[in-house]
Amino acid sequence: MEFLKELKANALVARTAVIAAIGGFLFGYDTGIISGALLYIKKDFHAGSAAQEFIVSSLLLGAVGGALLSGYLADRISRRNTKIISGTVYLVAALGCALSMNTGMLIGFRALLGLAVGTASFVSPLYISEVSPPRIRGGLTSFNQLATTSGILVAYLINYLFKDFAENWRWMLGVAAVPGAALAIGMFSVPKTPRWLVEQRRDDDARDVLRKLRRGSADDDVDRELDAVRRSVESSRSARARDLLTGRARPLLIVGVGLAFFQQFVGVNTIIYYAPTILQQTGLSADSAVSQALSVGITNVVFTVVAVLLLDKVGRRPLLLTGTALLTVALAGLGVYFAVPALRDSAPWMALVALVLYIAAFAIGLGPVFWLMISEIFPQTLRGTAMSVCTAVNWGANFAISASFLSLAGWISRSGVFWIYTALGVVAWIFFSRRVPETRGKSLEDIQEELGADTEAEREPKAA
Ligand code: BGC
Repeated sequence: MEFLKELKANALVARTAVIAAIGGFLFGYDTGIISGALLYIKKDFHAGSAAQEFIVSSLLLGAVGGALLSGYLADRISRRNTKIISGTVYLVAALGCALSMNTGMLIGFRALLGLAVGTASFVSPLYISEVSPPRIRGGLTSFNQLATTSGILVAYLINYLFKDFAENWRWMLGVAAVPGAALAIGMFSVPKTPRWLVEQRRDDDARDVLRKLRRGSADDDVDRELDAVRRSVESSRSARARDLLTGRARPLLIVGVGLAFFQQFVGVNTIIYYAPTILQQTGLSADSAVSQALSVGITNVVFTVVAVLLLDKVGRRPLLLTGTALLTVALAGLGVYFAVPALRDSAPWMALVALVLYIAAFAIGLGPVFWLMISEIFPQTLRGTAMSVCTAVNWGANFAISASFLSLAGWISRSGVFWIYTALGVVAWIFFSRRVPETRGKSLEDIQEELGADTEAEREPKAA
């Protein structure tokens, strides 16, 4: 395959992307592990339902904070150094969670972990997209999403394997310290991104890094790439954060925030975290519900691999639109299934088929495309800030959906919730088809030029 061939030719970039994607792995692992760990924590700490909810949601709220704080850090101290900090915080917070003596401590350390998760969730794709050659940027940046889905799957497996250990939840939460340390240490061995270096007016360093990253390319090609980066940095140097609200960058922010919102409001984490509960409602025993839920985790990983291989071949839009259409059909299927009681006896397989279809469709489209797109569409000097806003919206929406699913299902019925998600899936599809641009194969600089996100400062002299 073309992508794999290119990957071989760009071994250093591939290694760099894999190290950066450890951030994505931790994002998946730490969000996925808690459903299993909670079963034991609640016994040990005699935690009531409010305390349990806080243990789960403190991470999500911490992630909103992490996303907002680290946009500034990523621009200020570099994407790489921000990731070193986030790896270190992962390490400390994972150990803190594992050693917590009471609910309060655990909630505090989960919130700290959230800061690291929120940071890594967007600095990883940001970093990878800025070191990737345009031809394989889609697949490479989506390594991070592949790592996230693998982290969720490993969390499912660890939940299962550690179920008979004494003090098992401490191990479940504590082992994340290992990849946390690997992230912090590994990031020391990879370079700062050439684009960030140019922004800091360190052009010579940027050229050195780019030469290493494009080993095998002619010096002229490297210089040409660097010139384009320079031009685009210069043209967006006057950009201010407020241009995201008032300048021509605003439509791009609407695209990013729309993707962030819909990625969560089609209910993906309801499916991921409540898959065993949903399957149990179909009449399965707890054990078979848990093992069938594993197929959801495996499908998620497998179809993310498909996305990695296809994103640079067929493009972002076709995968996003096809994926969103299919997941909407799956949601309607779940709506029908729960609305018609007879189906539960005559066709219990229908729920599993719909869940698997849903997650496969999410994994080839909206899952990777959201993170990829927000790393591509914004002007260079606003990229960190804009991504942090979109990421904060995504985590906020994740919190709203995760916190509301069970009570909403009690209130308007399970099928009612799936009908709402179906309707949101339709609106999402229309929004994506009208607003989301195609970025396949283009350099970040060409994208910036095409999307023409100028700024107030640039427009003022023209108007005078
Ligand atoms: C989403 C997460 C979700 C994961 C599932 C990510 O792209 O942002 O909220 O849990 O995909 O694969």
